Amino acid sequence: MNQELRSKLDEKGLLELSVHSSDIPKPGKGEVVVQIEAAPINPSDVAVLFGMSNMITPALIGTTADPKPLVYPPAILGHFKRRVGKSLPSGNEGSGTVIDAGEGAEHLKGKVVALFGANCFAKYRCVPAQACIVMNEGTTALDAAASCVNPYTVLAMVETMKLEGHKAIINTAAASNLGQMLVKVCKSDGIALINIVRRKEQVDLLKSIGASYVVNSSEESFKDDLIKAIGETGATLAFECIGGGSMTNDILDAMEKSILSKQEAYSVYGSVTKKQVYIYGGLSQQPTVLNRSYGMYWNVGGWLVTPIIQRVGPEGFAKMKKRVADEIKTTFKSEFHKTISLSEACEPDNIAAYVKAGSGLKYLVNPQL
Ligand SMILES: NC(=O)c1ccc[n+]([C@@H]2O[C@H](COP(=O)([O-])OP(=O)(O)OC[C@H]3O[C@@H](n4cnc5c(N)ncnc54)[C@H](OP(=O)(O)O)[C@@H]3O)[C@@H](O)[C@H]2O)c1
Repeated sequence: MNQELRSKLDEKGLLELSVHSSDIPKPGKGEVVVQIEAAPINPSDVAVLFGMSNMITPALIGTTADPKPLVYPPAILGHFKRRVGKSLPSGNEGSGTVIDAGEGAEHLKGKVVALFGANCFAKYRCVPAQACIVMNEGTTALDAAASCVNPYTVLAMVETMKLEGHKAIINTAAASNLGQMLVKVCKSDGIALINIVRRKEQVDLLKSIGASYVVNSSEESFKDDLIKAIGETGATLAFECIGGGSMTNDILDAMEKSILSKQEAYSVYGSVTKKQVYIYGGLSQQPTVLNRSYGMYWNVGGWLVTPIIQRVGPEGFAKMKKRVADEIKTTFKSEFHKTISLSEACEPDNIAAYVKAGSGLKYLVNPQL
């Protein structure tokens, strides 16, 4: 029997997570059936499961011993109109073993593969053989669980830097799983990286894995430290995943101050060096505040990994996949706090924990449990 996790919001605002049963799919020509054994719960999955993660508190959902129906207030419901009544599958990435193969895909039988964008919170998935990322011999499904979303994002960030002619990168919430991978990639590729974190333990963690520049936004000296690090690296590109609040503004301001400190001339328009911040996450759902204290030559935009993968083309993407497969146990290794089953993913105590997105708190779903 196949089982998968579904999220459904009804017109009264009641959100229900449940496990749906169906037959195990049969592969057609060129298709394979993957038995999913490991799928991480990423922030993007939380967005599919719940929409707004910062609303999900024990006050709203209760506890596993005393659950409450999760009802979205009318003011928020309007925002989710387009998903009302739809039973959504989820699990952006995952890995497992090919257990059945259609004509032309038999060579994949028994292989450990990773899947991207394949709704992996399910016991079995039937996908085209080309959608499988075949892992190297000796890689387990657990090793390969998070081998798409964060690894490709990190490599796509570096590609973006090169494509747009910047020479260093700033990353925020940098003690994340993704941030730690970026530290390792930049170190091995000789790219200057400024990591912004919010706690002392996170500074220590990133230094211990080889980061050269780590600034702590909770320190009084944060803005000066950031200007200094930008001065030393020449960073004019930042990836910002907090989204809400003043971080984007602080980065643009520090870039401009650093640039102006090296030039004599005054211009009412500010410096003529382009400053770019890409917002690539929404860890804070507060509004993004910009005070425009950095002249006229700056840009703030959204950023997604998939268009960059398209931009680097099939050859560039093949190189990314090979590097990830080769370095999955080192550069692209992910840590998980707890492994849960599909039904445990519906329990309030687990939900309250996995929506938090705290450092070292990532949850893994093993649909076979
Ligand atoms: N746009 C794209 O294509 C794309 C692709 C992949 C990932 N992403 C984004 O990349 C980010 C990292 O993903 P991940 O899976 O690596 O995350 P993760 O391992 O769950 O780590 C999340 C980190 O964010 C920090 N954090 C949470 N809320 C914060 C806030 N309000 N202010 C500052 N720091 C905060 C946590 O630190 P504490 O312990 O201090 O809470 C933790 O270190 C996410 O925002 C995700 O959505 C975007």
